[in-house]
Amino acid sequence: MSNKTLDLLSKRRTQYALGKTLPIPTDAVEELIKAAIRHAPSSFNSQSSRAVILFGAESEKVWSLIEAELRKIVPEDAFAPTAAKMAGFAAGAGTVLFYEDQDTIRGLQEQFPLYADAFPGFANHSAGMAQLAVWTALAEEGIGASLQHYNPVADAALAEAFGVPSSWKLIAQMPFGSHAGEIGPKTFIEDDTRFITLGK
Ligand SMILES: Cc1cc2nc3c(=O)[nH]c(=O)nc-3n(C[C@H](O)[C@H](O)[C@H](O)COP(=O)(O)O)c2cc1C
Repeated sequence: MSNKTLDLLSKRRTQYALGKTLPIPTDAVEELIKAAIRHAPSSFNSQSSRAVILFGAESEKVWSLIEAELRKIVPEDAFAPTAAKMAGFAAGAGTVLFYEDQDTIRGLQEQFPLYADAFPGFANHSAGMAQLAVWTALAEEGIGASLQHYNPVADAALAEAFGVPSSWKLIAQMPFGSHAGEIGPKTFIEDDTRFITLGK
């Protein structure tokens, strides 16, 4: 089946081997990330997703701050693989920090008490949609990326370093850059185990 969206969705893959040379200017990457998040859906159109978009030395700072926090909890003699991972992310051109604004979620809970318990979950769904939108938009431009979760270990350090409002909760980190290596093939489970279609 030929479909532009499916082509793009299949082009988006996890790329750990990142380089610094972006195929488009940083201004264009910034606008792409903002537009992708702007167009991503959110519950009641609450637009709870937030992002910190970091390039160059500011992106490298993310990974040195996370590394410093991890050094406090990972034994020194077992740290080499972690240090290598941090160096790999820092080798990219940039990092997007994805947040969800807790004030927006609290506002929804007050406005719609019937759904109060559901809103934190909805915000996580919205975050996932924003992440997929950004990841796929980057892929279309030939930019590789991966999705990381070094929260909450480095939340405070990152918030302080980048002036992040206290109501923003860190959800994920997306290091991105040029493709500096091949991505292996992806396997898929059988359709029979995941889909039920009726009434065609
Ligand atoms: C909700 C979610 C959480 C993920 N967390 C991580 C993570 O913490 N670290 C990581 O390296 N990859 C993470 N990934 C990436 C997956 O491992 C990856 O998407 C999956 O193996 C499929 O490979 P693909 O991205 O190449 O299609 C996550 C993906 C999703 C959707």
